[in-house]
Amino acid sequence: MSSRFKDRKVVVTSALPYANGELHLGHIVSTYLPADIFTRYCRLKGYDAVHICATDDYGTPILIRSEQEGKTPEEYVEYWNKKDLEDFTDLGIIFDYFYKTSSQENIDLTQYVFRRLSENGHIDRRMVLQPYCENDRKFLPDRYVIGVCPHCGATDQYSDGCEKCGRTLQPGEIKSPRCAICGRTPVQKQSEHFFFKLSSFSQRLKTWLTENKNLQNEVKNYVLRWIQDGLKDWDITRDIPWGVPIPLPEAEGKVFYGWFDNHLCYISSTLTYFKKKRIDGKAFWNSAEIYHYIGKDIVYHHYLFLPAMRMGADEEYKLPDFIPARGHLMLQGSKFSKSRGWYVSLRDFLNNFPADYLRYYLATITPYSQSDVNFDWNDFHARINNELVANIGNFIHRTLNFLSSRHHGEVPAPEEYDDTDRAFEDQILTIREKVEKHLESNDLDRALKKIIDFSAACNRYFQQREPWKGGKGSRTCLYLSVNAVKTIAILLDPYLSFSIEELWRQLNQKEPRTWNSASQIDIEPGHKVSRPKILFRKLEEAEIQKQKDNLVKSESRDQASKEKLLARHPFKKGAKLTEVPFEEFTRLDFRIGRVVEAERLEGSNKLLKLQIDIGGERRQSIAGVAEQYTPEELKNRLVAVIVNLKQRKVFGEVSEVMLLAALDKDKMSLLNPDKEVSEGSKVS
Ligand code: MF3
Ligand code: ZN
Repeated sequence: MSSRFKDRKVVVTSALPYANGELHLGHIVSTYLPADIFTRYCRLKGYDAVHICATDDYGTPILIRSEQEGKTPEEYVEYWNKKDLEDFTDLGIIFDYFYKTSSQENIDLTQYVFRRLSENGHIDRRMVLQPYCENDRKFLPDRYVIGVCPHCGATDQYSDGCEKCGRTLQPGEIKSPRCAICGRTPVQKQSEHFFFKLSSFSQRLKTWLTENKNLQNEVKNYVLRWIQDGLKDWDITRDIPWGVPIPLPEAEGKVFYGWFDNHLCYISSTLTYFKKKRIDGKAFWNSAEIYHYIGKDIVYHHYLFLPAMRMGADEEYKLPDFIPARGHLMLQGSKFSKSRGWYVSLRDFLNNFPADYLRYYLATITPYSQSDVNFDWNDFHARINNELVANIGNFIHRTLNFLSSRHHGEVPAPEEYDDTDRAFEDQILTIREKVEKHLESNDLDRALKKIIDFSAACNRYFQQREPWKGGKGSRTCLYLSVNAVKTIAILLDPYLSFSIEELWRQLNQKEPRTWNSASQIDIEPGHKVSRPKILFRKLEEAEIQKQKDNLVKSESRDQASKEKLLARHPFKKGAKLTEVPFEEFTRLDFRIGRVVEAERLEGSNKLLKLQIDIGGERRQSIAGVAEQYTPEELKNRLVAVIVNLKQRKVFGEVSEVMLLAALDKDKMSLLNPDKEVSEGSKVS
């Protein structure tokens, strides 16, 4: 079977983004961009390489969000699956297959692996005490319990893992647990759960980690320490209705924990991809080098849990060879945080700058290591203008421009070389190998640095030769320079895919690029290049300033929405309140309106579509009140509304005004005046 494949086969996977919100630069920097650059290099090199990814669809947070938006979880994850793929594509991140953990193939594989693990004695059943909030009357999944990390003492951690020390926590381990909905201490109730016996893999994992020379040393060291400290068995059961069903009659209503099924999707998606091409995907997987690109926050899962599961299922699918883990992204020196609004979404970036600028900048600042990476707008500005534009772009442009304006685009025949030419020729001939060495060891930033330095050397050579004076050696200079441009094009291809496509046209190259033809001086005299267009434009100070200003604005906007969320919870004594200046309060226009029409919104059991008379004018409101009120109950009632909030789209419908209601746990009561007043009356 394997003889059908090329010699070197590579499966690259990128950690699966949760189907739960916009991709941001943090994801790109640690995972997707490095994986994409590496895969592009492999393809150019002629390796049989595939890049596989999917959305991570299951879990409580997604279930909750979909409910809040009045969608089924299926619709909700479908939306983010499409959106993520679009964003990736626009950044030039190309997957051979982008699938989903909720696919039938992944459900099948997950249930199959569970059966194998059970047969092999790696699954245990235990009665567990589950946190249950008597006030809210429900079992509280991980994210609904907050407390103190038993390892490092960090407060306000979710019960499934500590963000401070990076350890994962088992249900019940967190100290001083509180219900995240109401803040009360949950009680414990019994439920039967399935456990994956991770602890019994300690020795095998240790051997694997020690013997596998490809794994990142800095990561290995602390993972080995985790094993030393003792591994805990994993509770792989959740009492929620959204996940891969546990395939046993007695487990009805229970699903697998998301981290049981999600990484199996690397395999199921690869198999699906090959199946469509009528290729034996399993044979491919098992004879390929496996790379799982991840961010350092999910090291535990990928260095312990994932390999142990594959071992437990008899290594029917081989273990990873490389698990490159990179650090977190900082923004202007502070922790990147979506919830605080201190972040840059990928989409926002792409709306303002070329994708290649982001690829370039992030690739230069991201090392193959766990250290954090700092995105800084001024640094971005400087690197684009000084390196990409003034160095690389300049050399490419001056060479092609000179050829086309002075030589009708025709590459001249070289003259006899002198020492300078020979030295430059030597640089062209050797650069590929230097870059390649770093790419093979995943030092993508170092490889790029080599290319930047090479381009600087090209500029120096050009400058020294002064071909514009037309003296001796000018022709050699142009001949070697255009070949250097071609070499740069190939070497930069994994990083700057969009621009290089264009440059290739300008160079008038017909053959597709191959890695090994870099460092070959094979653009012959007489070859014609096209008239060049500027590939990289300079960034203006004002554009950068705008981004910095936006950052501050979005931070305060997010703060506001967080406060709104907090407002859903009972008022706690001594709770800190944020003061709002009076003028800000007066900017909101509160009115009394009358509901003149009310109907259910097709496809949602939470939302009603209301027409509200606010004094001779009608406004539409899409209100999340359908569980508390029927349309009939609301008809003709007076309600309090805010009329000048920015319009929103809810479930595909415009919502122009917002209803005010009192929220008490799961009760909701709409506000209305206690005397009859006319529609449009002001509320203050
Ligand atoms: N969705 C997870 C996260 O963002 C990553 C899943 S990677 C997988 O943390 F391998 F487990 F699928
Ligand atoms: Zn509660």
